[in-house]
Amino acid sequence: METLLLVDDDLSLLESLKMHFEDAELEGGAAFNVITATTAAGALKAAQESPPSLVILDMMLPDRSGLDIIDPLKAICGDAPILIVTAHHDMETTIRAMKAGAFDYIHKPFPDPAALDLVVNRALSVRQLSRRAASVAVDTPSFRLGDIVGTSPMMQELVKEIGKVAGSRATVLITGESGTGKELVARVIHNYSSDEPRPFVGINCSAIVDSLLESELFGHEKGAFTGAATLKPGKFELAEDGTVFLDEIGDMSLMLQAKLLRVLQEREFERVGGVKRIRLRARIIAATHRDLRHEVEAGRFREDLYQRLKVITLSIPPLRERREDIPPLVHHLLARINEKVHKRVTRVPPEVLEHLCKLPWRGNIRELENVLTRAVVLAPGEVLLAENLPRLESEHAPGRDAETERGAPGHSMQWLYGGAVDDPSRIPTLDEAERILIIRALSATGGHKGKTCQILGISRPTLERKLQKYDITPRVAPAEAELVPVRSNREQS
Ligand SMILES: Nc1ncnc2c1ncn2[C@@H]1O[C@H](COP(=O)(O)OP(=O)(O)O)[C@@H](O)[C@H]1O
Ligand SMILES: [Mg+2]
Repeated sequence: METLLLVDDDLSLLESLKMHFEDAELEGGAAFNVITATTAAGALKAAQESPPSLVILDMMLPDRSGLDIIDPLKAICGDAPILIVTAHHDMETTIRAMKAGAFDYIHKPFPDPAALDLVVNRALSVRQLSRRAASVAVDTPSFRLGDIVGTSPMMQELVKEIGKVAGSRATVLITGESGTGKELVARVIHNYSSDEPRPFVGINCSAIVDSLLESELFGHEKGAFTGAATLKPGKFELAEDGTVFLDEIGDMSLMLQAKLLRVLQEREFERVGGVKRIRLRARIIAATHRDLRHEVEAGRFREDLYQRLKVITLSIPPLRERREDIPPLVHHLLARINEKVHKRVTRVPPEVLEHLCKLPWRGNIRELENVLTRAVVLAPGEVLLAENLPRLESEHAPGRDAETERGAPGHSMQWLYGGAVDDPSRIPTLDEAERILIIRALSATGGHKGKTCQILGISRPTLERKLQKYDITPRVAPAEAELVPVRSNREQS
């Protein structure tokens, strides 16, 4: 029988709660063995005598605050969830209690018995889950090179190639969708190319206007242009005999592509406004999420530069093509995230891991990292919960595997249509929300792009860009079922 420890200085309340829980139907059918205390000291003593599997703890106790005994209680009862009871709704106490490790909050006056049972049952089932669930990837054979995690044949091959190119000074092109780890691979190549520490200088070619990018790369002489008050060395110089990482090289202007080509051919360059030839000692690693051959065909990328860059190309496959890497990545990223946000979420129930393995991961490992960070922050204990993860595609798209959607609650559109939103995990990210809205608008207009633009108040090119970004293919409808699909708000909840 599960033991419940009730701590409150209000004797009549204590008595009626005790009666309620002794009769309560628990998950699994058992009733509670209820023990009580009216002070903090009494609570610790009672817990020591018969360690409870659940604690309901009042904040305002005559001798000490309930907050102060969360830690000692945890030391005695281990993973027993502690539900804090308070009459106050202030943010600070809530935060302090949750940080101290309280599982949940119950506000006074007490909710009706059914609501109370719901909170209690949820706490107990999470605890059971945490006992049952094995930590992920305990026995997954995974290799690591620097920080590159992955067990798939494709990643093993990639790591081998990294090993091969790391020893040379050859220019390398890294391709792959956004978030697949291009920068990480560049850093690993750099780290493995020399035993002594050398500079790694990165620059994002898509983030800066052309003229500025030029002087960032090449540096400028004093007085080269208005505002150039002093001589400034560029990235090619600053990198010395290390690495210059040209991120998003596919977005570089044709003018700068020509200059870069010259640097690669002659391994010499001049600062902006200068005549002195400077020797390029750094190694160049470039990356792009674009298909450069396609960019060449479209006239946006120089053929000769492309030919030169592509000699050594490392392509990183998208995460959805190597789903066996997801469990070791989850394991690896959880450790990193826990450290960053000071939590200890180490248990991933098998069904949650399965859910993670099925998500589309358009944003690849970066998205996985973001999704896990949110779920870790929202996790009430040490278990990662499915309710804090995005839902599967099939939940938006009838016709896919309908089975998979059950038991994986996620975002609803309720947050958009009003009503109280008190559960932050049900609010989608902006990208998710945008995607859902576009699909809805398309659906409502029968796939008519012009009308969709009107509804959403955006231009046609913007719509096209977003369709591409979110991988949405609008279908013009003969039949309702053909429409790009989102279930209505009512159906979802
Ligand atoms: N194979 C991997 N193992 C571990 N972490 C990875 C891996 N691939 C990517 N990451 C992590 O994912 C995030 C995004 O990677 P990044 O290199 O910035 O991607 P890209 O440059 O392709 O957009 C980073 O935090 C990175 O450390
Ligand atoms: Mg990047």
